[in-house]
Amino acid sequence: MSTPELQGLRALVTGGASGIGAATARLLAARGAQVAVLDLDTTSLPAPLRGVNADLTDDASVRDAVADTAQQLGGLDILVNNAGIGAQGTVEDNDDAEWHRVFDVNVLGLVRASRAALPHLRRSAHAAIVNTCSIAATAGLPQRALYSASKGAVLSLTLAMAADHLREGIRVNCVNPGTADTPWIDRLLNAAEDPAAERAALEARQPTGRLVRADEVAAAIAYLASPAAASVTGASLAVDGGMQGLRPRPEQG
Ligand SMILES: NC(=O)c1ccc[n+]([C@@H]2O[C@H](COP(=O)([O-])OP(=O)(O)OC[C@H]3O[C@@H](n4cnc5c(N)ncnc54)[C@H](O)[C@@H]3O)[C@@H](O)[C@H]2O)c1
Repeated sequence: MSTPELQGLRALVTGGASGIGAATARLLAARGAQVAVLDLDTTSLPAPLRGVNADLTDDASVRDAVADTAQQLGGLDILVNNAGIGAQGTVEDNDDAEWHRVFDVNVLGLVRASRAALPHLRRSAHAAIVNTCSIAATAGLPQRALYSASKGAVLSLTLAMAADHLREGIRVNCVNPGTADTPWIDRLLNAAEDPAAERAALEARQPTGRLVRADEVAAAIAYLASPAAASVTGASLAVDGGMQGLRPRPEQG
């Protein structure tokens, strides 16, 4: 039997209690990595995932969580900065407190986790950071001004971090999911006036005609995190059913 691809590697996935993060944590573990999940509540994680409760808006709690994880796993090779929160509206709709709240999680959360993880990653022979960005960083989506700005920052940070840590052997990449079928989207649909019509509109926006699956994003993250991607750094990998790059003609009747 061949050795699992991520055997011997140790990973920390933020936001790994739900959606894309949960699918990623499970996949990394299935490929042989030891995986810890950092989230607000990790009580119902499936084995063999290890949970560490922390709030990414609290620097001390993130530092403790990363230090505990590295100690328990005997080091850290992979950091997946996946946790994020949404916001709706145009640039007029959210007050300063909401802008600070979303940036505190989506941007500063990534900064805090990366800052705490870097000393451990420097000691790894296969160090990788993968950030969950979004189609919202590269396409103008209506009613997503604040969220898009936060994900634009994630895209730029991915490039800047890839440059800064290149010579240390730490690769930094991101995935850009299109609308993905996760509890996040369930919440969005449940809040809509007509959830079925809203889902149909989101599906129709995808050239593939369906939402992206969490396990499809997880597969892209696992690739970027793996030694198979040793020459890939500063890249953003769209997992969006063609939404960013394609301009298909409507189907002929
Ligand atoms: N679902 C989509 O359509 C979609 C599309 C593009 C990008 N994304 C991005 O994918 C990532 C995951 O989204 P998802 O759809 O799986 O969402 P989700 O809501 O299912 O999961 C997000 C997880 O992040 C955790 N989290 C939130 N704030 C936190 C904090 N302060 N500290 C620690 N953990 C925190 C939540 O508890 C949750 O478990 C996010 O960064 C999101 O922006 C999602």
